[in-house]
Amino acid sequence: MSTPSHDGTHPGERVARPRRFLMCAPEHFTVSYEINPWMDTATPVDAGRALAQWHQLRATFERLGHEVEVLPAVPGLPDMVYAANGALVTPQGSVGVRFTHPERAGEAEAYATWLDEHGLGPVHRPVHVNEGEGDLLVVGEHLLAGHGFRTELAAHREVAEVLGRAVTSLRLVDPRFYHLDTALTVLDDDPEHPDVAYFPGAFDEESQRALQELFPHALRTDAATAQVLGMNAVSDGRHVVLSPRAQRYAEQLTQRGYVPVPVDLSELLRGGGGAKCCTLVLRR
Ligand code: ARG
Repeated sequence: MSTPSHDGTHPGERVARPRRFLMCAPEHFTVSYEINPWMDTATPVDAGRALAQWHQLRATFERLGHEVEVLPAVPGLPDMVYAANGALVTPQGSVGVRFTHPERAGEAEAYATWLDEHGLGPVHRPVHVNEGEGDLLVVGEHLLAGHGFRTELAAHREVAEVLGRAVTSLRLVDPRFYHLDTALTVLDDDPEHPDVAYFPGAFDEESQRALQELFPHALRTDAATAQVLGMNAVSDGRHVVLSPRAQRYAEQLTQRGYVPVPVDLSELLRGGGGAKCCTLVLRR
């Protein structure tokens, strides 16, 4: 087998790294308010289907060798299933969240308390609005931070200070891609050979230039991929769990040496989330 060239163009053998994830079952999931363009309160949600799809996602992670921790769902917090928004957990520390919309405010303390009680604290309670791993993505040495719809620019500085890491701010401009993880997938977070995929149209020009500079060999995806929330995928460095609707993306990933693993989360898409939204990485 050839050695990976690290520029993303000659795949070689991709290596999966076992992960520890935090998830929250959609036991109280519904669409009772609209805080992103995907949500439509007029179309009823099939709660049983949402739960079955979520179990499928969890089982897929476990089959791939990952450890899954589950946080109890709280009644009255229908979006709690989107665990990526619960925190940012890194070896340098854990940062809690503060939501833009009051409907989700109650989730913040539920996640922070769970992390504190499970040896992943002390969790920093933020001053500025940040929606966790939805907008804050670790790629090797880099911390990419989205703003424009949810997480405030001031929070980027706050997180940078708490974690002692440099942050690259990226401005999101399309309301359908309101969190960074709806526009960009971290394919490989190894500092030696970081790799990302992104849909350029979700970012302003300056941010597109910043991404181009940081990751000149990144995989760029098309509007069709982004529109099915294809970018909202979870990679372990080899397997990429993604929407079965993102077929072109799956082909591009295969060419790059990754193994696409489709999981249908159509019912959770009604809340505006895919595989990554349902998954918080515990990096400690
Ligand atoms: N309904 C949720 C919201 O609008 C969906 C969150 C999706 N999470 C994510 N990491 N993109 O806040």
